[in-house]
Amino acid sequence: MPAEHAPVLAPELTGLLAPAPGETAIDCTFGGGGHARRVAAAIGPEGALICIDRDPAARPRFERFAAEAPCRTRLLSGDYAAGLRTLYGEGIRPDMVYMDLGMSSIQVDARERGFSYSYEAPLDMRMDTRQELTAADVVNEWPESRLAQVLRRFGEERYAGGIAREIVRRRPLRTTSELVAAVKAGMPASARFGGGHPAKRTFQAIRIAVNGELDSLDDALPAAWAMLPVGGRFAAISFHSLEDRRVKRFLAARARGCVCPPELPVCACGREPEAELLTRRAVAPGADEVAANPRARSAHLRAALKIAASQPAGSAA
Ligand SMILES: C[S@@+](CC[C@H](N)C(=O)[O-])C[C@H]1O[C@@H](n2cnc3c(N)ncnc32)[C@H](O)[C@@H]1O
Repeated sequence: MPAEHAPVLAPELTGLLAPAPGETAIDCTFGGGGHARRVAAAIGPEGALICIDRDPAARPRFERFAAEAPCRTRLLSGDYAAGLRTLYGEGIRPDMVYMDLGMSSIQVDARERGFSYSYEAPLDMRMDTRQELTAADVVNEWPESRLAQVLRRFGEERYAGGIAREIVRRRPLRTTSELVAAVKAGMPASARFGGGHPAKRTFQAIRIAVNGELDSLDDALPAAWAMLPVGGRFAAISFHSLEDRRVKRFLAARARGCVCPPELPVCACGREPEAELLTRRAVAPGADEVAANPRARSAHLRAALKIAASQPAGSAA
């Protein structure tokens, strides 16, 4: 079992963030520390790197990283949205905040955690193993209509209704292979072939629900932006359209300034742009990176520079 995670779009991320000696950075998703290593090298001994990860298994990796890091380091173990609020409350105003969303290869390859449809394991899927809710709870206890909604919303699964019905019919489901079998039985035979593994979207959807991933991202984006000073940089790497759409809209709104409803013929809010987009379109990995690391293939990187102080929500200039 490889205990490694190859950082995705690493030169592109550090190229956009442009970490400089003595700066302070927040890595919201430490994982295996691949991005953190590059940022630490650039900010050097006068710099500070604060890392966050909700997975308790990230702590020993962080400790090994911190022992050799060329900068000051600190770890917050927990959700990044909560971590950013804590840091803001402490008065920390970083020069850059970045997040590399989703799971690490280390988590996927830890078979017993149940993230992968390729390995037989209990239905768990918790990134934070201190959390109570598991995939087994979602699959066995949530009403059929809620399950179908999760599969539709978080997995964009066409056969959400049929799969949810089949899951409910087969309860209790205990393992990943039982869930895969229910997914296959809940879709037409013709849909099981081509277009990737038939359970891919269901596993993604249940994982997002178990970990409240989109709620955390919706909370974290404004928290990260609010703590950046003018000149601060923000970057996010996402792995599916539900995340990328959120990042894109969030940054586009800061770059636009005006928050008036589109039906207003002229701007009444007077808000000025706070962001300059550093990526007009999302940056995707090149063919070489995808060949070396197939898990990079769906990555999208977006970044922005803060050009004006955040205005309180609802304020007019
Ligand atoms: C894709 S990996 C990051 C890999 C890392 N950039 C590297 O180079 O090794 C994502 C990590 O973020 C963590 N994570 C995901 N959602 C989180 C959240 N809401 N709060 C804190 N950590 C989170 C996961 O536990 C995982 O370790």
